[in-house]
Amino acid sequence: MIAFPLKRGDRVEGVYLMNFMGQVNFSQDQLDSFEGLSILFLAFMNNTREESSKKDHSRYKDIERRYREEIESMQQQLVLSGKLSSLGALASGVAHEIRNPLTIVKMLVDELSKDLKGSEYGEDLSVIHTEINRIAEIINQFLDFARPKDLTVIKGNINTLIRETMNFLDIELRKSKIKMELNLYSTLPTILCDHNQIKQVFINVILNASNAIQGAEEPNGWIRIKTTVQLKESKKFVKIVFEDNGPGISDKIIDHLFEPFITTREQGLGLGLSITYRIIENHGGTIEAQNRMDGGARFVILLPVEPA
Ligand SMILES: Nc1ncnc2c1ncn2[C@@H]1O[C@H](COP(=O)(O)OP(=O)(O)OP(=O)(O)O)[C@@H](O)[C@H]1O
Ligand SMILES: [Mg+2]
Repeated sequence: MIAFPLKRGDRVEGVYLMNFMGQVNFSQDQLDSFEGLSILFLAFMNNTREESSKKDHSRYKDIERRYREEIESMQQQLVLSGKLSSLGALASGVAHEIRNPLTIVKMLVDELSKDLKGSEYGEDLSVIHTEINRIAEIINQFLDFARPKDLTVIKGNINTLIRETMNFLDIELRKSKIKMELNLYSTLPTILCDHNQIKQVFINVILNASNAIQGAEEPNGWIRIKTTVQLKESKKFVKIVFEDNGPGISDKIIDHLFEPFITTREQGLGLGLSITYRIIENHGGTIEAQNRMDGGARFVILLPVEPA
């Protein structure tokens, strides 16, 4: 629960309360915007009291609705951040506990494999070896998720990072025969970001689209990536839109898409989008997902452009 006094001059006219589920920490930025909202809220109340013509009333209703939506979306984001950090801590603890005995098992299996090479146990040991490596891989992904690396931010152009990601995924995408269409805004401003982490985000979103298209056996699959600049509340953002013509996001998971371990894929861990969410959040940006009217999914990322 967070409370801000609604003050006119030195007089407190009320208290503005917001209820956040779970325990969350608030950044100074968030506190500043809550305080800003409480000032606007009081101005709104005063104005509705003083100017009660019908026209003004509906205008203020509009403003009220806008701020209500804004608060709800902030609340959702904070709840999700809280969930992510507690699940992250849990995953990290479990992963550490498993990793040590696993290393010993792996060492012993390697020794046994050498001794029993060519014997009747050789094949079984090779399966055990592969499966242990798979467990180790899952554990490493858990740990990556639980301990996101510090940001190393440098100036960069998102169009360049998208092109580098495409080069990196070239073989994979050619194999899948999915058509990639890029529509990159030519005078995109540079932004401060962690290049590797942002590329990780692009890889996660593109591979998800590719998996969805291939899973649905869509023969003419395409993925479109578009960049533009967007102004939001007088702040400038680089906007990146990913669209595909796969089957769209399942209704069963769409409301929990960015939470960890949410997956519809047999081979999936359901961590890709929660890692993506956290990276974007650490950059002060937002990511939203929706299904397109004519099928397929759309992911929209906004990354802030620092004032020059
Ligand atoms: N473009 C898309 N179209 C349809 N469904 C999608 C799309 N992107 C994500 N999803 C759905 O969201 C789920 C979660 O994605 P996420 O990347 O978090 O996990 P995953 O891909 O299943 O596993 P991981 O990324 O950990 O290997 C996917 O299993 C899929 O159901
Ligand atoms: Mg994924």
